[in-house]
Amino acid sequence: MKIAVFGASGFVGRNVIETLKEANMEIIVSDIKEVKNGGVDFIKADLLNYNEVSKVVKGSDIVVHLAASPLPISIEKPKLNARINIEGTLNIMDAAREHGIDKIIFSSASSLVGDVKNNLVDERHPCSPKTPYAVAKYAIEHYLRVYQELYGLDYLVFRFFNIYGQYQYPESGGLIPMVYRKLTTEGSFNVFGDGSQTRDFVYVGDVAKFYLKAIKKDIKNEVVNLGTGKGATIKEVVKVSGEVLGIEPKINYLPLRAGEIGNFVADTGKLKKLFGSVPETELWDGLRETFEWLIGGK
Ligand SMILES: NC(=O)c1ccc[n+]([C@@H]2O[C@H](COP(=O)([O-])OP(=O)(O)OC[C@H]3O[C@@H](n4cnc5c(N)ncnc54)[C@H](O)[C@@H]3O)[C@@H](O)[C@H]2O)c1
Repeated sequence: MKIAVFGASGFVGRNVIETLKEANMEIIVSDIKEVKNGGVDFIKADLLNYNEVSKVVKGSDIVVHLAASPLPISIEKPKLNARINIEGTLNIMDAAREHGIDKIIFSSASSLVGDVKNNLVDERHPCSPKTPYAVAKYAIEHYLRVYQELYGLDYLVFRFFNIYGQYQYPESGGLIPMVYRKLTTEGSFNVFGDGSQTRDFVYVGDVAKFYLKAIKKDIKNEVVNLGTGKGATIKEVVKVSGEVLGIEPKINYLPLRAGEIGNFVADTGKLKKLFGSVPETELWDGLRETFEWLIGGK
């Protein structure tokens, strides 16, 4: 079985590729920017160029789509985000149709839910996306369903929660690498409100293992949360980070920002039902792995 991976130079992509390589899967990887992935066939492709995308997809059985223009840019440039994240994904889906691909695995975002009405958040929670980025993710979930119904293209959607781990750089704006940077440089971290908001932090090594399972198992035409089902408060993340790093963190409490959401944790019932398990790495262990990588000089 041959797997084509888009977004190969990104945070999750690099982890997924390592896991697929370890499992001796045959892979072809692609991104608009090249990062050395050690002995893996790489094709540079812009999602907006159909011919380039088609070359990557051709000859593959399953497509793993992890490429995207990120959330912060979508606020500045919503049209650019729509082009890359909607039109670019449609290019992959059309190429998948053209080449008779078995299944496309898409990385969606739990933020498409918008305001949380019922925590834990399951896949049937009402969705009211609050950013252009989340609108695009929501649109693609619907395009995938419609392509399945019209053309028989099978898919699997993973709705990601807060993923952290190696290859996530502080510049990405991800909470955990930012906590690392602040604690190691200033010994303190700014928290909005009282820091009691819970989030669902998922270690990227677990995410990569679920991609391997999704490739091997015949699970298709489903939207499924990829979270742990266990909430950790922001305050807890800072404290545990301090423990792992051997630093007593000073937490500065700032006023709550407008629009800050409260608790947001995955209901993992469907994930467990389909896959038989949920991501299991404990926060302390995941943070230790992540910080060792960050300390190692990236
Ligand atoms: N990291 C998270 O916590 C998280 C949460 C929710 C959803 N997601 C989604 O998961 C996927 C992977 O996330 P990530 O954190 O690895 O993102 P990332 O930004 O690290 O990687 C995305 C990759 O897409 C590539 N890309 C951007 N524009 C492109 C284009 N026009 N053509 C080809 N490639 C292009 C980038 O070069 C980058 O390597 C994305 O779809 C993201 O939206 C991530």
